[in-house]
Amino acid sequence: MRERFRVVGGAHLRGEAAVVGAKNSALKLMAVALLAVGRTTLTNVPAIADVTIMAELLRRLGVDVVYDARLGTVVLDVPERIGHRADYELVRALRASISVLGPLVARVGEADVAVPGGDAIGSRGLDLHAAGLEALGAQVHVTHGYLVATAPSGLRGADIRLDFPSVGATENVLTASVLARGTTTIDNVAKEPEIVDIADMLVSMGARIEGAGTSRITVHGVDALSPTEHAVVSDRIAAGTWAFAAAATRGDIEVVGGVAEHLRAPLAALEDAGCQIEVTARGFRVSATDRRPRAFDVATLPYPGFPTDLQPFALTYNAVAEGSAMVTENLFEARFRTVQELARLGADAQIDGHHVMTHGVPLLSGAPVESSDIRSGAALVIAGLVAEGDTLVSGVHHIDRGYPRFEEAMRALGADVTREPDDAPFDEV
Ligand code: EPU
Repeated sequence: MRERFRVVGGAHLRGEAAVVGAKNSALKLMAVALLAVGRTTLTNVPAIADVTIMAELLRRLGVDVVYDARLGTVVLDVPERIGHRADYELVRALRASISVLGPLVARVGEADVAVPGGDAIGSRGLDLHAAGLEALGAQVHVTHGYLVATAPSGLRGADIRLDFPSVGATENVLTASVLARGTTTIDNVAKEPEIVDIADMLVSMGARIEGAGTSRITVHGVDALSPTEHAVVSDRIAAGTWAFAAAATRGDIEVVGGVAEHLRAPLAALEDAGCQIEVTARGFRVSATDRRPRAFDVATLPYPGFPTDLQPFALTYNAVAEGSAMVTENLFEARFRTVQELARLGADAQIDGHHVMTHGVPLLSGAPVESSDIRSGAALVIAGLVAEGDTLVSGVHHIDRGYPRFEEAMRALGADVTREPDDAPFDEV
């Protein structure tokens, strides 16, 4: 059944929002578990639909997976013999499925992973993943919509330089190299906290890795890894969502479990714009109750730069903040679908190439809008809170992919957000 959120405008969010483990780490760590025979346990796993899809993908590879969304645990029992194929049906539902590529080539010597199609935030290539695996000695080709990588006699260490610090390519090359013969250096790698989390888990499994979190990772290959227990790193994008929710609604939120250190660029921008930011014993707090904060210019960049995943929130914030500002998207070519929906809510925003110029208005005007991905959906709910009247946000399944029980968390902060059937007679074309 299709659902939508009904958002009643006019709330100033106040109180606590809890953040658990990161979607974009949990999914990858589930794939990492493939590298060791035996039972691996992940804790602090978010209760989101994407984890269910990844669990199904791993089951089809022969892994016994028990996901307890209430406890936040995933227990993966990996047998000696596992499959090597990730079907299109699952990959199209979950792009992060591509993260089984590295572990499968390393463990089984073969991976057939469906190539994900384009999605709402632009085409995303796999050329860097393929080049990295080839440098490690794999043969890689695309056939019938599948990326096939084979290394029948195993992988061997190499010196690799990524042309761009891609998160996904860094992960696949790292997870492939841990069982390679000899030493691998990977230069110009992504430095995201989720990469550090993967490296930490691999080290706890017996891998020998140095430099995670810097631009160069060195891996000394080992013969085998052992299963482990690992807690997923805190979700910096969910934490950043609450930071922007406080700022845009002129509220005051303590983000419990949030790590301010992982959000330096966005929190510094909000502080410069007139919000109060405070690191607390349990996380951090963002307050904008004193006055209407100022709009700010921002350009997305790989970590530690401003995250592309927070760009829709920066747009929503700028749409209602004081003054004019420009948001520049440098990572994904078509990640501006939020803009046309914000315009439906009365935002003054114009797209020019990979820039969006906004002139802040004090209040938006409630209307039906459509979310196109996880982040745009959550950003539109926040926009609805700063609108006069009701806003209906369709495409709630996108929001459910990334935010555990988003409407309940919103209500705990004083917002009037309810889930209801979406009775729109036509599908979007
Ligand atoms: N790219 C290539 N070739 C490659 C790999 C990447 O050209 O081989 C390009 C992409 O086309 C894109 C850019 O490099 O323009 C960045 O891609 P990257 O590989 O860094 O991103 P990703 O691994 O596909 C992850 C997150 C995204 C997040 C980006 C950037 C997951 C599952 N996804 O994607 O998160 O936006 O990093 O930080 O980890 C989300 O959670 O909603 C989401 C989209």
